[in-house]
This record gives sequence, structure tokens and C-alpha cells, in this order.
Amino acid sequence: MSPLLEITDLRIEFRLATGTVTAADGVSLAVSAGETLAVVGESGSGKTATALSVLRLNPEPPCVYAGGEVLLDGRDLLRVSEKDLRRIRGNDVAMVFQDPMTSLNPLKRVGAQVAEVVRKHQSASRAAAREAAVAALREAGIPDPQRRAGQYPHQLSGGLRQRVMIAMALVGRPRVLIADEPTTALDVTVQARILELLVDLQRRHGMAIVLITHDLGVVAEVADRVVVLRSGQVVESGDVVSVFERPREDYTRDLLRATPKLERA
Ligand SMILES: Nc1ncnc2c1ncn2[C@@H]1O[C@H](COP(=O)(O)OP(=O)(O)OP(=O)(O)O)[C@@H](O)[C@H]1O
Ligand SMILES: [Mg+2]
Repeated sequence: MSPLLEITDLRIEFRLATGTVTAADGVSLAVSAGETLAVVGESGSGKTATALSVLRLNPEPPCVYAGGEVLLDGRDLLRVSEKDLRRIRGNDVAMVFQDPMTSLNPLKRVGAQVAEVVRKHQSASRAAAREAAVAALREAGIPDPQRRAGQYPHQLSGGLRQRVMIAMALVGRPRVLIADEPTTALDVTVQARILELLVDLQRRHGMAIVLITHDLGVVAEVADRVVVLRSGQVVESGDVVSVFERPREDYTRDLLRATPKLERA
């Protein structure tokens, strides 16, 4: 199967007054429909910068895409117009971040925020968008979505807020979901439920998932393949079982050692 999203030889530079930081130094990775690719690596290894490059969300300046391609269905997203990119965001590729509090508007009811996204993707009346928003909250596993839709972000737990973000990300039926540490801020049981939700939604909709995490337990549970980044370079990649059982690099071995326990679900 040819990959849906393919990054080849990507070079991301942050050109700062103090010098140039190379966040991606020839990164290549690919993910197909229905597949989950995990991207792991220590802090500062370039995971987020690489993920943000897919929708060209790194701040330019200081960011410069100095080389390589980000191909969605063979089309280079680093070279499409802003207008096309806006269409691609949410419709083809959506993102979920670590901290839903920073992405949600604290002054707006969550139902209205999801409804806004609905209206961005389809021409719907206010009432229809409301209804679609409640349906999206339900699909994201939020109990009593009608009531929750009328609440403000601070009235929801961290886990529910992350489900709202997932509802917003998936309402445009994206083919690629990029999740950057989506469960890091949550406690362990909530983490597990959010991951189950993602896996379930992927099964139903067949999307490709790029999951950024430093938690190798999470990788073992949900990913098919893994890419290990270090200082902006891919030091190792392959299917999860072989990389975990026979890591070729000391760096990967150290990452694995830092993880308390690995069990494949
Ligand atoms: N907007 C920015 N301006 C300047 N430098 C940046 C910017 N974003 C990232 N960088 C730099 O790029 C490098 C890679 O950062 P990135 O955020 O991609 O790491 P990461 O692997 O996601 O780390 P973490 O696990 O801590 O989230 C780091 O050296 C970082 O300081
Ligand atoms: Mg990051």
C-alpha cells in the first residue's frame, strides 16, 4: 500500500539571532491509512517541529523549511498555497495537542466551539451544526453530550477536555490524525481510555495516525510502527515488535530502559 502521508528528507531550521537550530535534519517517515506510526525520542529531538511541519504550523520566521518534502497523496504540502493549506487543515489532516486548555477558548461553551468547526467544514445551519457538535461529542465518548455541550472548558475534567479536542479534530473526517503527546497531561487510567478511543475511531474510520509520545508503553500498546528521533535525525525505524525486541541503536535501548514496563495489549 502506498503511504498516505510521506515525509522525505525533511530539514527544518529555526534561524535565531543566536544561531541556527536544526530541528529536523533529514527526517523521513511514512504512514498509511489505518496505520498508527509512533514518533518517539528525547525532549528536543524534533518530534513536535516535524509534526507541525505537516500543516506548516511552525512559526515562520524563525522556522525555515530548508529541504525535503511533506507529501499527502503525493502532493507536497510545503509547496501548496495558504488557501489550499487551509482546506487541508481539518479536512485531510487534523491535530490534537497535549494541553487542551490552551487550545480551547475558556470563554465559550464547548458545544459552540465544536459547532464552529462543523460550520468551517460544511455549510450547515446553526441548529444543524449544534446537533452535529453534540453527535461529535458523543462519538468522542463524552457521556451526556447534550448537557456537556452547554458547559465551559473549566467545568470539564482534563480527560473530557481532551475528548472535546478529539471531537473537534475528527469532525471534518480527516484522513490523517497527528496527535502530539495527547495523553501526557492525564492520569494513567484516563490516558488508557483516550488511547482506546483513538484506536476505536481509527478502526471505524480507517484514518492514519501519527502519535508522538515519549511513553514507550503507549507505543507498545497502540502503534504498528515506530520512528525513533534523536537530534533531528531518524536513528531507528521499523515495526514496533522488532524495534522493541531487537533495538539496533544504544539510544533506543536507553529509551526502552527508561520505560518501567512494556506489555503488548
Ligand atoms: N518556535 C521555535 N523557535 C525556536 N526554536 C524552536 C522552536 N520550536 C522548536 N524549536 C527547537 O527545535 C528543536 C526541536 O524541538 P521540538 O519541539 O520539535 O522537540 P520535541 O522532540 O517535540 O521535544 P519535547 O519532547 O520536549 O516536546 C529544539 O531544539 C527546540 O528548541
Ligand atoms: Mg514536543
